[in-house]
Amino acid sequence: MTMNAKPAGEAVLRLPDGTELKLPMHQGSEGPAVVDVRSLYKQGRVFTFDPGFTSTASCESQITYIDGDEGVLLYRGYPIDQLAEKSNFLEVCYLLLHGELPNEKQLTDFTRSITYHTMLHAQFDRFFEGFRRDAHPMAIMTGAVGALSAFYHDSTDIADPRQRMIASHRMIAKMPTIAARAFKYSIGQPFVSPRNELGYADNFLRMCFMVPAEDYEVNEVLARAMDRIFILHADHEQNASTSTVRLAGSSGANPFACIAAGIASLWGPAHGGANEAALNMLAEIGSVDRIPEFIARAKDKNDPFRLMGFGHRVYKNYDPRATVMRKSAHEVLAVLGIKDDPLLDVAMELEKIALVDEYFVEKKLYPNVDFYSGITLKALGFPTDMFTVLFALARTVGWIAQWTEMIEDPDQKIGRPRQIYTGAKTRDYVPVKKR
Ligand code: SDX
Repeated sequence: MTMNAKPAGEAVLRLPDGTELKLPMHQGSEGPAVVDVRSLYKQGRVFTFDPGFTSTASCESQITYIDGDEGVLLYRGYPIDQLAEKSNFLEVCYLLLHGELPNEKQLTDFTRSITYHTMLHAQFDRFFEGFRRDAHPMAIMTGAVGALSAFYHDSTDIADPRQRMIASHRMIAKMPTIAARAFKYSIGQPFVSPRNELGYADNFLRMCFMVPAEDYEVNEVLARAMDRIFILHADHEQNASTSTVRLAGSSGANPFACIAAGIASLWGPAHGGANEAALNMLAEIGSVDRIPEFIARAKDKNDPFRLMGFGHRVYKNYDPRATVMRKSAHEVLAVLGIKDDPLLDVAMELEKIALVDEYFVEKKLYPNVDFYSGITLKALGFPTDMFTVLFALARTVGWIAQWTEMIEDPDQKIGRPRQIYTGAKTRDYVPVKKR
């Protein structure tokens, strides 16, 4: 993608030796302007240094916009709360992939294409047999999605737009089937095939919770909650796993391998693994009266403990997804008749305390999307080790949209960061007898 941003003057960088480097600036449609440092090394033989990318724009994108200070999240310009309320996950998938909401025919065609890609190659089911029954479902997802390129090599030519589209639809369609199989395998129940007459979330819940011994009727309120959770997790700008997918894709790796790399990155507890970690933390706290002890630990510099589900690199305000997630948690618990969920009591009290505690206020640590999702997912019947799998299922469309945007950028080149080297200078080899 060529720079669609507008020129915004230039920055002048003066080096200690007096050299002045002129760097063009660009302004996007929203958000901070950027200093274009692409010519920096050529001009001044110096690098920028930004290990955590706290001040670095790695790419130009038109997919998702976050204003961390205002707690704003837009998918192709549409606010997340409106999409969560009024749209559905497959329509949001179309929006993220194509940039516009679909008309009725486009939505019907897209839905049909996804529906008719939900089945897996019959031999793929044997792939799961290679895992131990107690394998973490994220380990299975990472392996299984990487293995898709072994089964669907007819859609791995990234230069062919048609193959890119087929691979994209295959992954969006097959992630629920793979995720449900990872769950069924871990609990020793038979796999359930997808049904074409069911909606995306309904199909997934049925593949997870139906047993051959009896009929299974999907609860529409729970399916709507599941669909909304997928919408909330669908994309989130250049987060760690999306950046992983872009970097892997920049080498020309096939789309299945790139998404598998994204799944691996999402697994970390600082990222997508936080929903599992947040629920485990709530269980460890156990009761409202133990909250002060854990808040003290979170503040203690010598204690690595952090309040999981709190804080965010970008949001220095309430994560707008957490607001929707919180409402959904109450709705699901009410439908299921779960009156006094001790974990929810602990979560509500923890949130109340953290939002007034000066440590969290000063560091702008608000609940993020992972704080309430665990409570809802547990109420829906998922074990904690499936939580990040559901995050990966939903985020697949975001990864694919970002990967496609990168591949279609005519200026795209392999990502190859540099470093500041502080290791040993050149020295001669010393034979072992002389060491
Ligand atoms: C996701 O990037 C994305 O968009 C991710 C995501 C997406 O949709 O893709 O939004 C999904 O990953 C949400 C975040 C889920 N992770 C967690 O809930 C884990 C707990 N949160 C932290 O690990 C942390 O807040 C991060 C990793 C999320 C953000 O870390 P940063 O931006 O690198 O901030 P930091 O670690 O430098 O923390 C700043 C300060 C530090 O104190 P000081 O060193 O300045 O004294 O805040 C403190 C931290 O110690 N801090 C916390 C804290 N998070 C940060 N202290 C206690 N509890 C916490 N949760």
